[in-house]
Amino acid sequence: MKKRMISGIQSSGTITLGNYIGAIQNFIELQNEYELFVFIADLHSITVPQERKTLQHNIRSLAALYLACGLDPEKVTIFIQSEVPQHTQLSWILECSTYMGELERMTQFKDKSRSQADSNMNASIGVGLFTYPALMAADILLYDATFVPVGEDQKQHLELTRNLAQRFNNKHGDTFIVPEPIIPTAGARIMSLTDPTRKMSKSDPNQKSFISLLDPLPTIAKKIKSAVTDSDGVIAFDPENKPGLSNLLTIYSVLTKRSIADIVLEYTGCGYGKFKGDLADIVVQTIEPIQQRYQTIYNSELLDNVLDAGAQNAQRLANRKLTKVQNKVGLGRKRK
Ligand code: AMP
Ligand code: TRP
Repeated sequence: MKKRMISGIQSSGTITLGNYIGAIQNFIELQNEYELFVFIADLHSITVPQERKTLQHNIRSLAALYLACGLDPEKVTIFIQSEVPQHTQLSWILECSTYMGELERMTQFKDKSRSQADSNMNASIGVGLFTYPALMAADILLYDATFVPVGEDQKQHLELTRNLAQRFNNKHGDTFIVPEPIIPTAGARIMSLTDPTRKMSKSDPNQKSFISLLDPLPTIAKKIKSAVTDSDGVIAFDPENKPGLSNLLTIYSVLTKRSIADIVLEYTGCGYGKFKGDLADIVVQTIEPIQQRYQTIYNSELLDNVLDAGAQNAQRLANRKLTKVQNKVGLGRKRK
């Protein structure tokens, strides 16, 4: 039997080249070997303020992009998180055995709550932003997933998921599979194009810092060509001292499946201009066919059918697990 795998992406903006390289590209490769579940984490995206119409569009858009990037609905269960209510139900149960201290240590919470507070001095940080990792644990544990393909930034959340699973199993007997992250060896952390010391993020207010999969192609080329590098003009991979150029070399390497050493050799003696120009072409060639498929899929009935079938399949499994958990905890009523 194939091992099961699950992953999700938040619907909080159009996905970036970082999401594509750190997550989606791997889903595509893994879909033949594993029983894969991929969802749209819309409940996670409301941990920060969202506008209704934009959120609705982003959810459908992410689903369409999954298909346009090459996820095959014949092989993969694709669904929307909020359409499977068991996620929130299990997350409450897990929250009750998650410690405050564990959540306080989460770096994504620290970063996001800080940036929300920065953008509005009086901002109130929602409790959901704090408890979010328990929802993520529920997303995973409901499906008996053995592996979770994610980028580097999710490692800490996965560690918590493992602890919560073990804690529950110790107290109530074997219930959950303790999952393992699968983090790509290259491209697990694609950096911002304007500040290469920070990760590329779709929620960055500076549009030039990230490449969205739906940016117009000339804009994509322009963003690559104007990416921040350094002034010594030497093509070399040195993330410490040359973070900008090293990030571009990583992107080049993952998209062409060539080794970094090989690429450095090819461009030795060339200026950054030639290297960036070639990379811009490579990125555009990767994204162009995705954009061509995207529009048709976004407006199609096929997309609704895929999401309906996905929700149905996910609910079936999730319900079985949730009932077991509720029973072990002693919730509800025992019939006479
Ligand atoms: P998010 O956009 O935060 O929902 O992330 C969805 C997936 O993309 C997760 O597996 C992340 O680890 C991955 N990801 C997000 N940003 C990057 C990045 N800059 N580089 C590599 N992977 C990323
Ligand atoms: N928290 C993840 C992120 O911000 C998205 C996510 C939510 C996820 N639930 C998940 C990823 C379950 C893997 C498995 O990137």
